[in-house]
Amino acid sequence: MASQLCLPLFLLFAVYPAFSTNPEGEALHALRARLKDPRNVLQSWDPTLVNPCTWFHVTCDDHNRVIRLDLGNSNISGPLGPELGHLEHLQYLELYRNNFEGKIPEELGNLKSLVSMDLYGNRLEGKIPKSFGNLKSLRFLRLSNNRLTGSIPRELASLTNLKVFDVSSNDLCGTIPIDGPFPTFPYQSYENNSRLNGPELQGLVPYDFGC
Ligand SMILES: *[C@@H]1O[C@H](CO)[C@@H](O)[C@H](O)[C@H]1NC(C)=O
Ligand SMILES: *[C@@H]1O[C@H](CO)[C@@H](O)[C@H](O)[C@H]1NC(C)=O
Repeated sequence: MASQLCLPLFLLFAVYPAFSTNPEGEALHALRARLKDPRNVLQSWDPTLVNPCTWFHVTCDDHNRVIRLDLGNSNISGPLGPELGHLEHLQYLELYRNNFEGKIPEELGNLKSLVSMDLYGNRLEGKIPKSFGNLKSLRFLRLSNNRLTGSIPRELASLTNLKVFDVSSNDLCGTIPIDGPFPTFPYQSYENNSRLNGPELQGLVPYDFGC
């Protein structure tokens, strides 16, 4: 009888040998697994801990929920992934000046509490996700110095709290929205996108030729 009870338990531990961290720790660990980290900035990310709150560059609130990820200037390379969208209490996503590459995951649009997203100075490509229109708390969105293409999504015009917006030095095209917070952003927010046209004209359908 005893051996019949023990076998399933043994199998369970065989399948999940190292992980005892919570879902947010698993999400961060899944991200780390794809990254190159020549300076060992992520060395303290130990998935056998109960939660990721003692890991360097990760900050939690009083309920052990991840609210900050600070990996700027860390010489990390590799792709971002959909797991980041599971950090549902995240307020600050600071990944600037690394070598992150590939597309910006549209799942980042799930981060409803996000106040600041700094992805500038990487090698990100593809489009700015339309899902960013869901980030109603967002105040700072800096995507400059990447390889982003496509147009600025009209959905971003609904981000009424957005104070700083920078998409300079990419390869964006089309027109610049004129509603929501967009009239408050300076020219420098858009410069060095050779295919980006001026503000869309009032009353005309936005045109995205060659976009
Ligand atoms: C950054 O990483 C690359 C390898 O990916 C390495 O050649 C370079 O020396 C690193 N730079 C710094 C400042 O650590
Ligand atoms: C313009 O943007 C490209 C692509 O990001 C970048 O390589 C280049 O250094 C930028 N040029 C200036 C003058 O900022």
